[in-house]
Amino acid sequence: MIGLIVARSKNNVIGKNGQIPWRIKGEQKQFKELTTGNVVVMGRKSYEEIGHPLPNRLNIIVSRTAKFEGENLMTASSVKEAIALAGDAKVYISGGYGLYKEVLPFVDKMYITEVDTTIEDGDVFFPEFDADEFDVKTGETGGDEIKFTRTIYTRRVQKKQVGDKEIIYRKLTEADLDSFIHMRITQITEEYTVEGREVPKNVDLASALQDFYHRHMADGTFVSWLALDGDKIIGTSGMSFVEKPPYYTCPTGRIGLLSSMFTNPDYRRMGIAKDLLDHVVDEAKDYGCGAVWITASNMGVKLYTAYGFEHNGNFMQYKLK
Ligand SMILES: NC(=O)c1ccc[n+]([C@@H]2O[C@H](COP(=O)([O-])OP(=O)(O)OC[C@H]3O[C@@H](n4cnc5c(N)ncnc54)[C@H](OP(=O)(O)O)[C@@H]3O)[C@@H](O)[C@H]2O)c1
Repeated sequence: MIGLIVARSKNNVIGKNGQIPWRIKGEQKQFKELTTGNVVVMGRKSYEEIGHPLPNRLNIIVSRTAKFEGENLMTASSVKEAIALAGDAKVYISGGYGLYKEVLPFVDKMYITEVDTTIEDGDVFFPEFDADEFDVKTGETGGDEIKFTRTIYTRRVQKKQVGDKEIIYRKLTEADLDSFIHMRITQITEEYTVEGREVPKNVDLASALQDFYHRHMADGTFVSWLALDGDKIIGTSGMSFVEKPPYYTCPTGRIGLLSSMFTNPDYRRMGIAKDLLDHVVDEAKDYGCGAVWITASNMGVKLYTAYGFEHNGNFMQYKLK
């Protein structure tokens, strides 16, 4: 995933006299949360303004003239080289102008903080881009004398080279529902019958699923990302959002329920399930969820464990029939 993080003023200024032209308490918190444990890529001038590598993340500095090396610190001579150096890790491009401009045609996700101020005589601006290529969500607001609003731009159609194939990742739409439901029923029928059980005759899953997806896609409480090879859906993922009374480790009370994880057997062991998981876990983060729950299939346990899921000690269920 190639991400971008920026804060810009109402008149699109991001820098003035070599500095960010505002200091707002809490404004940089999101930057720290997103980049920690991942990779941050910045231009030479932005790095020199900070003056040291940011801790607990790999810092890749883009420069044609200077070389920075050290613990968690590398230099690349182009943005493409920086992205290649990051390998499979999540990469966050964090300015300035030239780096943003170069990644805007293909960046997957942009975290743009809209700062409610107008800066006179700014000398570095955020480049123009085509907002129609992105889904936009408005997030938290904050600030003191100067207020800010978080926005998240997610590219609607993301392309990734996986082996010799170009895989497309995008969200499920109403137009996909028939194929999606067919795949879902095939998968759960296989899982249900594997132990010799017969599928109950009186359950009309197709209609129930149509009804579920229509309602929950419309109110935003279900989202799914698909992987496609050409027009063919070869992987699916799904996330439902539910709420509980808030508690300390989940102050929003919002929980993501992961479902519908499936990869066509011909496309397994290529990292596609992990990419789909990344997409829906990001959706859960953007929705403000404090945790994601899954009832894993035997095959899924390995993937989820490697991803960082943990068994939930005393989780229990009481069957109502
Ligand atoms: N508001 C925000 O979110 C935000 C974020 C970041 C920065 N800023 C502000 O923006 C300003 C700095 O941005 P800037 O655009 O002037 O500088 P910058 O991008 O930080 O640094 C520019 C330098 O990076 C290297 N570089 C950039 N593009 C390159 C490329 N495609 N290939 C190889 N090297 C490349 C070059 O280094 P060499 O000259 O060494 O080759 C270039 O001189 C500061 O005011 C900073 O505070 C604001």
